[in-house]
Amino acid sequence: MSKIILTGDRPTGRLHIGHYVGSLRRRVELQNSGEFDKIFIMIADAQALTDNFDNPEKVRQNIVEVALDYLSAGIDPARSHILIQSQIPELTELTFYYMNLVTVSRLQRNPTVKSEIQMRDFEASIPVGFFCYPISQAADITAFHATTVPVGEDQEPMLEQAREIVRKFNSIYGETLTEPEILLPETKAAMRLPGTDGKAKMSKSLGNCIYLSDTEADVKKKVMSMFTDPDHLRVQDPGKVEGNPVFIYLEAFAKDEHFAEYAPDYQNLAEMEEHYKRGGLGDVKVKKFLNNVLQETLSPIRAKRAEYEKDIPGVYEILREGTQIAEEEAAKTLSEVKAAMKINYFDDKALIEEQMKKYSGR
Ligand code: TRP
Repeated sequence: MSKIILTGDRPTGRLHIGHYVGSLRRRVELQNSGEFDKIFIMIADAQALTDNFDNPEKVRQNIVEVALDYLSAGIDPARSHILIQSQIPELTELTFYYMNLVTVSRLQRNPTVKSEIQMRDFEASIPVGFFCYPISQAADITAFHATTVPVGEDQEPMLEQAREIVRKFNSIYGETLTEPEILLPETKAAMRLPGTDGKAKMSKSLGNCIYLSDTEADVKKKVMSMFTDPDHLRVQDPGKVEGNPVFIYLEAFAKDEHFAEYAPDYQNLAEMEEHYKRGGLGDVKVKKFLNNVLQETLSPIRAKRAEYEKDIPGVYEILREGTQIAEEEAAKTLSEVKAAMKINYFDDKALIEEQMKKYSGR
């Protein structure tokens, strides 16, 4: 069986370093591993509209931002197809048929939907489109016969929903769809980066993100004003590394080579952490080191972004081509689905003959 990746993001903002360690870096590694036969990366604009339907301009602007973030982080259009969800009508059609296979109460139990309903103040009146987005996400995944869906743990309920739909479809209509596997981030640090202010999540509205597209000066400023251990007042005081965002970022980004280059007093992060815990290592020093590490990681991304920014029509062309190839795949799957559901009337010679016989004797 071929190995196929499908994953994606809602285009509601520029991607930040939390997206990078949580998913983007891994996607580039998976892409470059050569282990996958096909890779599809979806800009899920239709899904973004389920809770931004009154602000299509935001979604429209962020499609290019996200595409630029992908390309600059190392997604290679020769190896991965980047596609725009709304431009593939087959996905909507699949969603409609999958709707028969899911109950309202099952959607209501989806923990992601539940928490998003709370977050978006949708308690009083949930738009049907929003409520159904797990079904549409199952269409996204199955349309490409994806075997592997690399996403964060917050997407686990979506994957479970997709797998249920696949099993139900196959048991009613015969083996047609492929059951996808979730591929979670490997390390704890990659699971979720806190904001620069120490809040659990990076979010645009909290203004605590470091973006892939931030300038060198922006990154430095944000790092130097990061929240650390609030009880670490004087350099000689012992400090805490658990829950300290500066150390969490270092866990996600620092390599031993970075120590040799920028903090030669330490061989590795464990040694630096020991010193911090013991006392005698100041926050400014650690932040300066983190800044160096981040700059080294982000500067090639920034440089690549600048190149792509010079050729925006070229970026749209990449999206158009990726979308076209993706649509061909989705169309194939849709015809398999319609055949399995016996709604392929005009291609169904046996049906026409059967009807002919039925009426010929009269
Ligand atoms: N729900 C995902 C998110 O919010 C985005 C997404 C849409 C997606 N369709 C997908 C992810 C299909 C994986 C597979 O990040």
